[in-house]
Amino acid sequence: MAQKEKKSSPGIPWRTRIALSFVSTVTDYSRRQNGTVNRRLLGIFGLKTSANPNPVNGVKSYDVTVDSSRDLWFRLFIPTTDESRNLSSLPIIVFFHGGGFVYLSPDTKAYDAVCRRFARKTPAVVVSVNYRLAPEHKYPAQYDDGFDVLKFLDNEKSRELLPENVDLSRCFLAGDSAGGNLAHHVAKRASEMTSNFGALKVIGLVAIQPFFGGEERTESELKLVDVDPLISVRKTDWMWNAFIPPGEGMDRDHEVINVSGPRAVDISKLDKFPATVVVVGGFDPLKDWQRRYYEWLKRSGKDVHLSEYPTMVHAFYIFPEVPEATQLILEVKDFINKQCSKVVKN
Ligand SMILES: *[C@@H]1O[C@H](CO)[C@@H](O)[C@H](O)[C@H]1NC(C)=O
Ligand SMILES: *[C@@H]1O[C@H](CO)[C@@H](O)[C@H](O)[C@H]1NC(C)=O
Ligand SMILES: *[C@@H]1O[C@H](CO)[C@@H](O)[C@H](O)[C@H]1NC(C)=O
Repeated sequence: MAQKEKKSSPGIPWRTRIALSFVSTVTDYSRRQNGTVNRRLLGIFGLKTSANPNPVNGVKSYDVTVDSSRDLWFRLFIPTTDESRNLSSLPIIVFFHGGGFVYLSPDTKAYDAVCRRFARKTPAVVVSVNYRLAPEHKYPAQYDDGFDVLKFLDNEKSRELLPENVDLSRCFLAGDSAGGNLAHHVAKRASEMTSNFGALKVIGLVAIQPFFGGEERTESELKLVDVDPLISVRKTDWMWNAFIPPGEGMDRDHEVINVSGPRAVDISKLDKFPATVVVVGGFDPLKDWQRRYYEWLKRSGKDVHLSEYPTMVHAFYIFPEVPEATQLILEVKDFINKQCSKVVKN
C-alpha cells in the first residue's frame, strides 16, 4: 500500500507538521517533573466537540455512560446513509484513541472526526471508548475499561441503543498508538474469555501504529528522533512510566509493552485471536516495535497483514488533508468487508 519512492523527509503538508508540533509542545509543557500531568493547561488547548444526534456528514452521534463511578463512557457513531441502512448486517468497530495512555478522549475534535469518517465510509457503527487515563489510573485500568465496554455492548439492554441491522458477531477492535496497544490487549482478553459473550464476536483487529516498546533502543527510535514531530524516547519513556505501576520487574520489557520480547505471552494456542492488520509509517520512530509485533503474530500462527506507509509519520491518519489518511480508511474498509464475508461463508 502507498508505495512511493524513498524520501529522506516525511511526505506531510506544512499545515500538518505545524499542527503536530503544536500538539507536541503543549503536551510537553503539561508533563510535570514529578510525574503528574497538568490537565488544566491541556483543557485550554484541547479542542473538544459534543455529540450530535442530528446527522452531520451522514453520521449521528450520542454519548453513552457505561459506569459513571469511573467515568467510563463511549461516543456512539451511527451512519445514517441509505447505504448503511440498506445493509442486512452492519459491522461494529470498538475504537480506542491514541495519546500515550495519558492524553485525549473521544470528544477530542480530531478523534470525533476520524470516527465519523470510519462510520460513514465503512459503513459501520463506531464505539469510541473513554477509557481511564494514566498516570491517575495505571495499567490494567485501561484494558479493564475496554473489555467492560465489550461486555456492555453484548448485553441485551444495549440493543436499543444500536440500529436494528447491527451485527454483534461482526465486531472489530481498532485503535492507533496507545489505542492500538489497547485494542490488541482487549482482543487478546476477549479471545481468551469467549464464554463471557453471547452474540458478540471479535473477528478483526486494526492496530494503527500501535504503541509498543522495550528496554532496548531500536534503530528507528534512535534515527527518527528529530524527524517525527510527535515521538521521542524521552516522551515514550515518560508515558510507560506513567502507565505501569511501580514495582519489581515492571520495566519496559513488561509483557504488555515489549509484547514480543522476553516475557511475551504465548498466543499461538489462542485460536480465537482475530485476523489483524498492522499499520506502520516509514518515519514513525515506533516502526521497529510495530514490525516486531507483526512478526510475532505471524510466528504465533495468526492471520496478520502488514500495511506500510513509507513516507508517513506517527498519527498521520488523524489529518484529513493527508491523502494517505483517506487511503488508510479505505484499506480498513476492505479489511472489514473481507472478514465479514468470511463470516457468511462459515
Ligand atoms: C506535582 O506537582 C504539582 C505542581 O507543582 C502539584 O500540584 C502536585 O501536587 C504534585 N504531585 C505530586 C504527586 O507530587
Ligand atoms: C436503499 O434501498 C432503497 C429501497 O429498497 C433503494 O431505493 C435505494 O436505492 C437503496 N440505496 C442504496 C444506496 O443502496
Ligand atoms: C524486547 O523484545 C525483543 C524481541 O522481540 C528483544 O530482542 C529485546 O531484547 C527485548 N527487550 C529489550 C531489552 O528491548
